[in-house]
This record gives sequence, structure tokens and C-alpha cells, in this order.
Amino acid sequence: MKHNFKSIKSNFNLIRQFHFEPRSSYPVNIKSMIRVNLAGEAGANKIYAGQMAVLSNSSYGSKIKEMWEQEKHHKAKFEELINTYRVRPSLLLPLWNALGFSLGVGTALLGPKAAMACTVAVESVIVQHYNDQLRDLMKVEKIDEELLNIIKKFRDDEQEHHDIAIECKAEEVFLYDFLTKIIKTGSKCAIEIAKIV
Ligand SMILES: [Fe+2]
Ligand SMILES: [Fe+2]
Repeated sequence: MKHNFKSIKSNFNLIRQFHFEPRSSYPVNIKSMIRVNLAGEAGANKIYAGQMAVLSNSSYGSKIKEMWEQEKHHKAKFEELINTYRVRPSLLLPLWNALGFSLGVGTALLGPKAAMACTVAVESVIVQHYNDQLRDLMKVEKIDEELLNIIKKFRDDEQEHHDIAIECKAEEVFLYDFLTKIIKTGSKCAIEIAKIV
């Protein structure tokens, strides 16, 4: 009986491996990683688009534009990888776009320092998320060097965005701790959902 259960389980794993996840011979779920990363980069693009819609003519406009340009590149790269690895994109992509844009516009309307506080919160969560992925990717026997290097580079870009926002006096905004805590919690929830859906 025990033996039968084992063989059923191993057959199921084989079927799943070859029919549903042909490239997931890794102990980490590369497909889920790419799905959530595209969702995150799409959302980040919309945050900066929303901030630019309000603040493009302010003294913060050029900094926001600079960061947005990098986000466009990040998104394009994961769009490429989603095809290479044959990953289903997040079904909630339109929702991440809408939430991202609303967050960008909403915080920018509170003022440029609130927009920068939003950047600090979101980017710190993304840096942590990419670091988690890098640790997981390093665990596997046959490391996917290309993906590892892409995520490393993007992690460094996100850290730079975080630092720019701090330099732009994000911490001076009224209720900084409260605002960043709410945005961080929301971002973490979105990441967990986008890994699956
Ligand atoms: Fe990014
Ligand atoms: Fe970023």
C-alpha cells in the first residue's frame, strides 16, 4: 500500500514535470519567479507613469523620468523572458497596472516627498524580493547564470532608485512611517499573489 502510494506520487510528479512545467527541473520555481517579476515591473512602470502624470513639470520630474526609463527596460526584459521560459503571465496584470498607476498618482498628489516615500517603500520591498530570489537561484546545482545576472543587475537598479528617493527627502514627508508601512504591506501582498495567480 505504502509502495503504491509512493509510485503514484512519483508518476504524478513525472506527469507534472513533462506536461505542465517542462522546464522546471529546478528545485526552485523559475516560472513563478518570472511571472511575479513581470507583474512587479509592470506595476512599477505604472507607479512612475502615475507620478510623472502629476509631477513631470516639478523639480522632481527629471529624477522620476530617469527611474521610469530603467523600469521600462526591466519590464521589457521580463516580457522577453516570459516567452523564452514559456511562462503564463499573471492573470491579474491589468489589476497590478491599475493599482500601480493609482498609487503613483495618489502619492504624487500628496506632494513630491510623498511620491518619493512611495518609491522608498516599493523599492525596498523589491530589493528584498530580488535578494530572496537570488538566494534561491544560488541553491540549485545547475545555476541559471543568465537569469541570476539579470536579477542582480535589476536589484542594484532598484537599490539605486531607493537611494535616490531618500536623497530627494522622502523621509521628511508627514507620516512617513505610516505611509511607507502601508505601501510595503500592500506590495508584499501583491508579490505573494502574483507568484501564483
Ligand atoms: Fe524595476
Ligand atoms: Fe525601481
